[in-house]
Amino acid sequence: MKLRLFTTTTLILISMMLKAQNPVLIPGTLSGTEFTLNLQNATFQFYEGINTTTMGANGSVLGPTLIMQKGDLVDITVNNELADTTTIHWHGMHVSAENDGGPHTTIDPGGSWNPSFTVMDKAATYWYHPHLHQMTNKHVSLGIAGFIIVKDDEEALLDLPRTYGVDDFPLAIQTKDFDDQKQIVVPSNSDDVVMVNATIDPYLDLPAQVVRLRLLNGSSMRVFNIGLSGNGTFYMIGSDGGLLSEALPLTRLQMGPGERAEILLDLGDMQGQTIKIMSYASEFQDGIYGATYPGMNQSMTLDGYNPNPLNGNNYDIISLNVIAPTDNPVTNIPGSLVTITPWEESASNITRDLTFSPENMGLDQLNGNFLINNTSFDMDVINYSIPLNNIEIWSIANNSAIAHPFHIHDVQFYMLDRDGNPPPASEQGRKDDILIKPQETVRFITKFEDFANDPVPYMFHCHMLIHEDGGMMLQFEVVDETIGINDIPNGKGEMSIFPNPVSGNETTIRLSDDNLKISRYEIYSSSGVLTQRHNAENNSPTAKIKLGDTKPGLYFLKVFTAENVFLNKIIKK
Ligand code: C2O
Ligand code: CU
Ligand code: CU
Repeated sequence: MKLRLFTTTTLILISMMLKAQNPVLIPGTLSGTEFTLNLQNATFQFYEGINTTTMGANGSVLGPTLIMQKGDLVDITVNNELADTTTIHWHGMHVSAENDGGPHTTIDPGGSWNPSFTVMDKAATYWYHPHLHQMTNKHVSLGIAGFIIVKDDEEALLDLPRTYGVDDFPLAIQTKDFDDQKQIVVPSNSDDVVMVNATIDPYLDLPAQVVRLRLLNGSSMRVFNIGLSGNGTFYMIGSDGGLLSEALPLTRLQMGPGERAEILLDLGDMQGQTIKIMSYASEFQDGIYGATYPGMNQSMTLDGYNPNPLNGNNYDIISLNVIAPTDNPVTNIPGSLVTITPWEESASNITRDLTFSPENMGLDQLNGNFLINNTSFDMDVINYSIPLNNIEIWSIANNSAIAHPFHIHDVQFYMLDRDGNPPPASEQGRKDDILIKPQETVRFITKFEDFANDPVPYMFHCHMLIHEDGGMMLQFEVVDETIGINDIPNGKGEMSIFPNPVSGNETTIRLSDDNLKISRYEIYSSSGVLTQRHNAENNSPTAKIKLGDTKPGLYFLKVFTAENVFLNKIIKK
């Protein structure tokens, strides 16, 4: 009996030692107007003494936090020292498509990329990550992801914690799957290891005052139901792309992959205590990656998903130990924050209806195909052509059996409704990523401003990275239709069309610069929908444009050479 007691005690001691908590890694920062990211293959010890193969930016995992000031012109150098081609995308930021780092803007191994843009975004928490077609999950899961903190004058006027690593902390919450050798398995639906900033079993010491946490769901697939141990109240102050109108007291916040939330904790009289950020996944309805059943219909299975102790159970994300306050602490939760002025629904130019729909409705639909508008991603097809300055309502119906986080590049949007009901207060601020539950329809409004006629398109996609890589992504371009017949956005010289108006089904174009070679052309309807795309046959400054049996009316013709784009109007008689 005595021996047995001893053994039990020893086991408890050993398991306590194994459960030893690790101080959460706080990424270093880069600030100013020039930033360099060196992407590298590396190893990192998620588990003490065991090297796990990783990828990181300026280090072996994750990347530095980039601190940017609104209005600054920033210059970024991304050096790709990986063995793989990749891209780096500034998730949530309003930059031109060329600077956006989507799948078309690849950086070869050994190569560099130099985006440069003016920071136009509001103070909020953004992030960067690779976005190579079909490789996003691999590069993110192996470790490349970093925060971007944008600051602005509006935020600076508020009495908020903002000293990085002192009362203001970025926390990237991720789950990963490790094999027996503690190597990261990707893709995987068996992610059972929770980490914050690449730290397993993490703790963070926080001063006994008001602190700010910038939460990112950086997981490939998993949704979190954020709450505090003991169901304590936290105050949400910011969503994906800006501050809320006022600090919002919450006890739960659902976060899908890619979403960010800034929260305040009032730890003023909690010195000496420990609280935890948890995911209350037991409260998820079925049909969410993170619930007991990932599909609404319990007979639908997802390869590798169960069993997993994280599915449908509550679990700890990070322990927060409250220590002595700092000098000059923030001690109050502010009331009002910023004024939010969504576009009026009546100002919209168009409503686009989108669907998430599995190709078949069989039992394995949770494993694919993953489609938007019944269409799979094709690098060579531009799915929407959007007139510059259009105000648009996007209505997205999730006809599938699992919740998908919808994300769009270029813009921030304002939620209009979920199944006709006003969005909760936590979703009334600026968003670029929104979880859409099975059988739910979500509508948002946004405006496509500032950037048009770029040589590459922007993306919109599901931010579950297996789905994104599996084709649940489409692309759009923004077109400046006010360009006149002979105005040339990026080209040299002029483009003439003869005859125009066109009475037959063919016409000819000619570029005035004889050195240019036309590689392809596209025809758009007057509302900006891509209707035809053709490669030019003889790579010369002239080309025959085939209109086919298009209806009479106004069309836009876009002509591409290696480096230039020409835009013109064609009238079909
Ligand atoms: Cu965070 Cu298109 O991505
Ligand atoms: Cu993005
Ligand atoms: Cu999805």
